[in-house]
Parts: sequence; C-alpha cells; structure tokens
Amino acid sequence: MNIKQFIQALPKAELHVHIEGTFEPELMFEIAKRNHIAIPYENVDAVRQAYDFHNLQSFLDIYYAGAGVLLHEADFYDLTRAYLERCREDNVVHTEIFFDPQTHTARGVAFETVINGIVRACREAGQQWGISTRLIMCFLRHLSEESAFETLNQALPYKEHIIGVGLDSSELGYPPSKFERVFAQARTEGLLTVAHAGEEGPPKYVYEALDLLHVRRIDHGVRAEEDEALMARLIAEQMPLTVCPLSNLKLKVFTEMKKHNLRRMLQRGVLVTVNSDDPAYFGGYMNRNFEALAEALDLSAEEIKTLCANSFRASFLSEAEKEEWIRKIESFHVE
Ligand code: ADE
Ligand code: ZN
Repeated sequence: MNIKQFIQALPKAELHVHIEGTFEPELMFEIAKRNHIAIPYENVDAVRQAYDFHNLQSFLDIYYAGAGVLLHEADFYDLTRAYLERCREDNVVHTEIFFDPQTHTARGVAFETVINGIVRACREAGQQWGISTRLIMCFLRHLSEESAFETLNQALPYKEHIIGVGLDSSELGYPPSKFERVFAQARTEGLLTVAHAGEEGPPKYVYEALDLLHVRRIDHGVRAEEDEALMARLIAEQMPLTVCPLSNLKLKVFTEMKKHNLRRMLQRGVLVTVNSDDPAYFGGYMNRNFEALAEALDLSAEEIKTLCANSFRASFLSEAEKEEWIRKIESFHVE
C-alpha cells in the first residue's frame, strides 16, 4: 500500500469546512442559470483562473460573490449533497460543517431556507452512506455584534440541528473579544463554541478565543507557534487546532508547503488535525490536504494515523463513538 492508498483507506473526520467554500464552479454555473443570475465569468475555467489569492481578504471577496447565487432550499441542498459525496469518496465518515447564515440573510434569503436545505442533505448522507454530520453556525466577524445577536435569535428555533457556533471572515482588526457577549449567550443556550484565530491574526486572538469565548477548538491557530507560553498551554490543555494546509498555502500564510508548521506542532504534542476549509477554492478536499502535507513534510504512516485519530478526538462525537473510530484507525498497519 502506498501513502496515497493509506490516506484513502483510513477513516477521517473533518472539523473545519465552510459549506459555501465547497461550491464548485460547475455547480455555481448550474445554479446561477436556473436562478437567472449572471456570473461575471465566461466559463468554469475562467472562474478557476480567478482563484489566485494573495491573502484572506482577496479570497473572501470572491467567496462571498460566489455564494450570492444561492437562493432556494434546493440550492443549499445541492451544495451540501455535492460536498457529502466528496466526503464519501475520501472516506470522511464524520464532518462538522460550518455555514455562514449572514451571507444569505443579508440578501433576503430566509434562515429557514438555508438550514432546511443543508439539514436534508445531511440526513440523507447519514441514511444512505452512514456519514455522520454536525452543523456549526458561524458569525461573520466583520459585521456587528448586533447582527450576530440577531442571527443567534434566528437560529434558536433550529437549535436541535446546530451543535455550536463559530467565528469566521476577515480576522485582522476583528478580535474575538468583539463577540464575547454573543458567545456567552450561545453557551447559555447549550451551544458549543469554536473560533477562527491565529490564521492571519496574532497569538493574542487565540488567547481571547480561549479566555473570552471559551472555545472547544481553535480553527487554524497556526500563528500560536509564535508564542511559547501559548504553545505550552495548548499542549497542556490538549486544545485542538483545526489546521487547513492547502488553505494556508493558497492564502499565503506559508509561502510553501515545506515550510508548514503542522509536523513541528504535532511532534511537540499539539492536538492538530487536517481539514480542507474551502476545498473548491483551495484545490483539494480532505485527502488532497493529507497528500500535500505527507509529501512536503515527509509524514510517516504513524503520524498520518495520529492525525486521523486526532480528528475524532477533537470532534463533537460521543466518547464511545470516538473510541470506536480510533480503535479502527489503530488496527491499520502499513507493510
Ligand atoms: N471563511 C471561509 N473560509 C475562511 C477562512 N479560511 N478564514 C476566515 N473566514 C473564512
Ligand atoms: Zn475556515
């Protein structure tokens, strides 16, 4: 078995994927056409050529524009269904999916439309393919606290479908502290919390996510390495980092994959996981992320197994479910 086959064979959980970031140009054209919305590109190749980013904001501008063609429940269903099909191909057996309601409600799409489409696709993937799913609702940090509160209130009637809340969008200049109160309210409602921090932002934002938002995981967190005390804390608390290698490369967080710090953090005992973030924009789903890392950092089979086991350890599955998947992973041997 070569490394690629080994990655394919191992069961994996994905903990950091934005459903709007799984929107492939082919489906975008199809949905735009049926919704009678014009796309400012000739064809799918032209769209892909525009995916040349120099930082997070240059990506977000295109990502929000792309999501603008999603209008109906069927659109959110098709989007989610297509992502879950890719999970099945990559042997991702469990996924905790982010969605950005404000991207849609700001355009007049009802919260209900968004969540109903996503939930229906998730339910079917469970029934047909045995893929388990959870949903995490993200607040856009470049918008106001008031808008986040409004979004939380819109979500409450659908709370049974939402495991937690997260924080995404432009990081620099929008610290986690801005959302301390809305996250406190979400926790009162029984929702778990996560937050993007330390992607482009400084270690201070990671501290704020931990101390003010009481997160269960840090999304990205790669810049935590700049602060020794923070690293010691992440290791001691076994605080998971949901790292996204191809995303980091495309958004120039690292200039080349060989310079990625995931292996260094793993070897120091940080609970790091591998994820795809916005796979339609960054050139690959889960297995491509593993392959790119394994090749550039020369990961061993044992390290790949640890990363897969970490994905379940850091998930919101029950302890019994986690143990079952980890046992399966441990039973894998490379020749
Ligand atoms: N929204 C979608 N992808 C994101 C990322 N990598 N960082 C912040 N916000 C995002
Ligand atoms: Zn993200």
